Amino acid sequence: MSESQPLRIVHHEGTVTRDERRSALRQTGGTLWFTGLSGSGKSTLAAALEQALVRLGHAAYRLDGDNIRFGLNAGSKILAETRGYSEESARRFGLGFAAIDREENVRRIGEVAKLFADAGVFALTSFISPYRKDRDAARKIHTGNASGALPFIEVFVNTPIETCEQRDPKGLYKQARAAIASGKGMGFTGLDDPYEPPTAPELTFDASTRSVEDGVAMILGYLRAKGMIG
Ligand SMILES: Nc1ncnc2c1ncn2[C@@H]1O[C@H](COP(=O)(O)OP(=O)(O)OP(=O)(O)O)[C@@H](O)[C@H]1O
Ligand SMILES: [Mg+2]
Repeated sequence: MSESQPLRIVHHEGTVTRDERRSALRQTGGTLWFTGLSGSGKSTLAAALEQALVRLGHAAYRLDGDNIRFGLNAGSKILAETRGYSEESARRFGLGFAAIDREENVRRIGEVAKLFADAGVFALTSFISPYRKDRDAARKIHTGNASGALPFIEVFVNTPIETCEQRDPKGLYKQARAAIASGKGMGFTGLDDPYEPPTAPELTFDASTRSVEDGVAMILGYLRAKGMIG
């Protein structure tokens, strides 16, 4: 297999400006990065916000486990069984759940969200994304963009773990508790793996005390106040 790489990649600039995209769409676009424990309500809030934005005539798209872990960041088994990858390619390009795979998962999500944001669309990402440095890296590729900062809004879904565990719609806490009790552990965020809360999130939402509608109204209010939607 060839290991050769081009010495440099030549950029081919297009002619459409970011302002042209934004005025065509009547919005700035940007990334809304939902982070929080499993079961905290990220997907619920992101889905409701997407619905509200689209009803208002805006372009918004959710990146969630369902469309990311089966597509862009599929695991080796999916690549081998449904995409015809050789065993070696599947191993090389598939993502699992080891620490380094999780980091790469979040990196790719950040890059894709950035493309949506640059296109003038609102990217709504709902992943636990437990590590501060990974979220900060996603922020940095938006705000430090060569052609000007792209909006990056971190929404900390700060629901107490007791509520998350009690709701446990996927039965994951139950499974993790059993694994911990048996001495194996599962590396489950909030139980036997850390969750590092954001230090300066743009928005915070507690789904144990506030309704989904409340959360949507808060975010729409923020986007209007910042002039990101009309
Ligand atoms: N504001 C709310 N009030 C009451 N229940 C809520 C609220 N938000 C979410 N829920 C409920 O909490 C549970 C977890 O929500 P959700 O699946 O959105 O969490 P999540 O953060 O996306 O979790 P995961 O990281 O595992 O995907 C669901 O059963 C959902 O219906
Ligand atoms: Mg979810």
